[in-house]
Amino acid sequence: MSLSGNDGRDGFTSKFGILCATAGSAIGLGNIWRFPYVVGENGGGAFLLVYLGFILLLGIPVMLSELVIGRRGQRNTFGAFRKLAPGKPWWIIGVMGIAAAFMILAFYSTIAGWTLEYIVKSFANAFQGQSSESLAEMFREFHTGIFWPLFWQVIFMIMTAWIILAGVKKGIEKYAKILMPFLVGLLLIMAIRSITLPGAMGGLQFLFKPDFSELTAGVFLAALGQAFFSLSIGMGAIITYGSYISKGNNLTTIAAEVSIADTLIAILAGVAIFPAVFAFNLDPAEGPGLIFHVLPSIFQQMPGGYFFAVIFFVLLAIAAVTSSISILEVVVAFVVEELKISRRKATIMSATAALFVGVFCTLSFSSLGNVNIGGLTIFGVLDFTASNILLPLGGLLIVIFVGWVMMAADVKDELSNAGALKIRLYSAFNFIIKFIAPVAIAIIFLNSIGILKI
Ligand code: PHE
Repeated sequence: MSLSGNDGRDGFTSKFGILCATAGSAIGLGNIWRFPYVVGENGGGAFLLVYLGFILLLGIPVMLSELVIGRRGQRNTFGAFRKLAPGKPWWIIGVMGIAAAFMILAFYSTIAGWTLEYIVKSFANAFQGQSSESLAEMFREFHTGIFWPLFWQVIFMIMTAWIILAGVKKGIEKYAKILMPFLVGLLLIMAIRSITLPGAMGGLQFLFKPDFSELTAGVFLAALGQAFFSLSIGMGAIITYGSYISKGNNLTTIAAEVSIADTLIAILAGVAIFPAVFAFNLDPAEGPGLIFHVLPSIFQQMPGGYFFAVIFFVLLAIAAVTSSISILEVVVAFVVEELKISRRKATIMSATAALFVGVFCTLSFSSLGNVNIGGLTIFGVLDFTASNILLPLGGLLIVIFVGWVMMAADVKDELSNAGALKIRLYSAFNFIIKFIAPVAIAIIFLNSIGILKI
């Protein structure tokens, strides 16, 4: 990464680099692994509608608010709040974000490890000629094991830490430029194959035909959590990246473009997966293993499936790493700037700590599988707490901060690049972050814990 002259801090070099890095953070396992299984668990079409509404009404404004805080604050997420609101306790948002970062990194590395195993399996042509039952069995056997899931998790964490250490963000910018369009192209081909399977219609109906009787308080909370997770918002990843963005860039366009790209990719993943789920008679609500059964089944039915499978899992792992570095960066930027520890030490310490939690998460699919906390496994608890509680709560406080605590003139200054840009839609943005978003998030929370009944 080279210097862009923001208080002498590291920064992104070009508009394109910023877009790639931010989109790289947003687009990841959240779109291709988490989105389909959460849609599946929450009844399909109605969930999708609510999800899209949340992206537009809450997601984009929260992302823009994070960019404003980050670029204005020129600090890590904790330091930014301390600088922008000295002597007030808003830095708590930063502390919550760092806690969320550890939890997410822990379970993210479990799942990313699974994708590494699936690169090897696809290289070895392991899916060829297997029935969808035996593919399901293959996955079960792998992820309920101990050695390999842990091995791949460690490898993935080392990759993440190595990229953060080497500071090769510029390299990532370069690769993301070529590879992400590839991922989209491949998903498109898989979607076509999936839709043309016999029995695929049921999947499209499941995804696009809303059944409003499915909507419960839990579905709203799940959609909110998924929207925040997928956009990387609510924990300061975008604040941290925002602090590396130089003054000339248009924050509003970045927030809009990244959110749109992220959402389109999630929907595309849904279109690739659900028709096949129905065609192969699988259960859409089966949970986190969903894509690891369904995708190999699709590749099997494709001409050239061997190559498509290899390329796809490699791209998925890359998409995962460009997200996980943004999570680790939240912690590392904090440790470096606030605790004055070298970047190298900070990275090694943070990655090791996250890995320590991550091991429990991986083992919750095997030897710790019977640890049950409120009906959830360790994986379930980490995911629920981070995605459905900490991220939306962080988002709630972030919009309140930008809407009520920061001076309107400062916010406008960031949005307009000190008057150089004409800011459109400011009053809509202001109204959403001041009133709509805080009220909406609060209602969803209260509703889901049963305090409010709507
Ligand atoms: N948005 C990333 C994904 O979809 C995950 C992520 C969550 C990254 C929170 C940063 C912060 O895979």
